Amino acid sequence: MTASLKDSISLQVVLGTQWGDEGKGKVVDLLGENADIVARYQGGPNAGHTVEFDGECFILHHIPSGILRDHTKCIIGNGVVINPDSIMEEIAFLENKGISVLDRLFISMNAHLILPYHHLIEKAFEGREGGLAIGTTGRGIGPAYADKINRVGIRMGDLLDSNGLTEKISQNVHMKNRILEKVFNAAGVDVTELLEGLHNFRENVRGCITDTTWMLHQELQKEKRVLVEGAQGTLLDIDFGTYPYVTSSNTTIGGLSTGLGISVRKVDRVIGVIKAYTTRVGNGPLPTELEEDFGEKIRKIGGEYGATTGRPRRCGWFDGMVARFATQINDVDVLAVTKLDVLETIEQIQVCTGYRYQGKELDHYPMSNRILDEIEPVYEVLPGWQAPITEIRKYSDLPEEARNYLSKIEEITGLPIGIVSVGPNREETIWK
Ligand code: GDP
Ligand code: IMO
Ligand code: MG
Repeated sequence: MTASLKDSISLQVVLGTQWGDEGKGKVVDLLGENADIVARYQGGPNAGHTVEFDGECFILHHIPSGILRDHTKCIIGNGVVINPDSIMEEIAFLENKGISVLDRLFISMNAHLILPYHHLIEKAFEGREGGLAIGTTGRGIGPAYADKINRVGIRMGDLLDSNGLTEKISQNVHMKNRILEKVFNAAGVDVTELLEGLHNFRENVRGCITDTTWMLHQELQKEKRVLVEGAQGTLLDIDFGTYPYVTSSNTTIGGLSTGLGISVRKVDRVIGVIKAYTTRVGNGPLPTELEEDFGEKIRKIGGEYGATTGRPRRCGWFDGMVARFATQINDVDVLAVTKLDVLETIEQIQVCTGYRYQGKELDHYPMSNRILDEIEPVYEVLPGWQAPITEIRKYSDLPEEARNYLSKIEEITGLPIGIVSVGPNREETIWK
């Protein structure tokens, strides 16, 4: 592994180490300058990745954040789920801003589609009486992945076979409408309208649909630099997160292999994006959650409202137990710490270094919501720096208290920090 994140490397991965919204979009954009290909491996339009530069703000949902660097090719891997209408809106938005997309976007023929019945089923599920609401983004993610696993999903490649598509869609709609009507007492979808929409979609993206796995291997053989962009975060992983309050894909490092078709053994560097504090949007455990007034203060300063749904994000102190767990699961090499500036007015900053459970300190993060509900975080209090830092570009120019805070994160995780982000803009970055 080379020392600096600015050095070019063959295959690197950027992923979230908390509950999403860590600032992955900004970090991918920064590293995208030195990448030839940027690829997403999981998730779908539940993601909202924000990139800001030159007074413009872009929020990417399906399309890799690397699209904003005009020399890149961008891949949407087989592990991603795609909403035809919303990806077309995203493409139109970018192209209207002068960013060419269709000539640089490659979509896996095996990526699954999110269709209107997925939204309706999710809505019915989330709203069911006495049921457990996850607090999803409402983008149909869970039902689309459920169909994939249930082997009734519609894939991008299906669009290219008109007759087959009509048959599969008709069968699916018949079944889903029965479920919607009989179980949920809700209206179903119109098959003709759906097929018409899909035919239009096919005409727009026909040239993008390809075997992205083969493409990636070819590019890696040519020693092209590939940057992989994770969506969501480790604690939202379907297997390792706070189940059932998770998303429906493997957000962690293994998702890269199944979602792109590249072995994890090919990965040269894993960059864990970590916010200087913690946020979560949706329901489920958040052990270091702040009491409402203070949480509201951080939410306001940090602009902590969902990039996809606009919902207020719940805020908490930095959680070292979560950080250690996430960096271990993903074998993170180096951290990108974001939003350090948000803490600049805080007098006393708390850092969670452990969890106390039934009178004893736990030696590792407990993968059980029942235990997480009962633990008491153990905090260390660090003095704040109480000075603006957004204009700072050199690590040594940061106030001593800010450097101490970052050193504490390095000490807890046992990992070096490579990037410190001190504002949303591209240039508001310290390369360490
Ligand atoms: P992602 O989903 O991980 O890409 O993160 P989001 O885009 O959902 O949320 C991160 C938010 O924080 C966005 O609004 C970014 O513009 C913003 N942001 C990123 N880095 C910084 C930073 O260092 N400081 C501040 N104040 N905002 C940041
Ligand atoms: P990015 O990539 C934060 C959360 C939802 C909900 C749970 C399940 O921007 O970091 P889903 O719609 O996926 O079925 O919702 O996961 N969630 C996210 N939270 N950032 C995201 O993406 C998220 N994507 C999903 O709020 O709690
Ligand atoms: Mg986001």
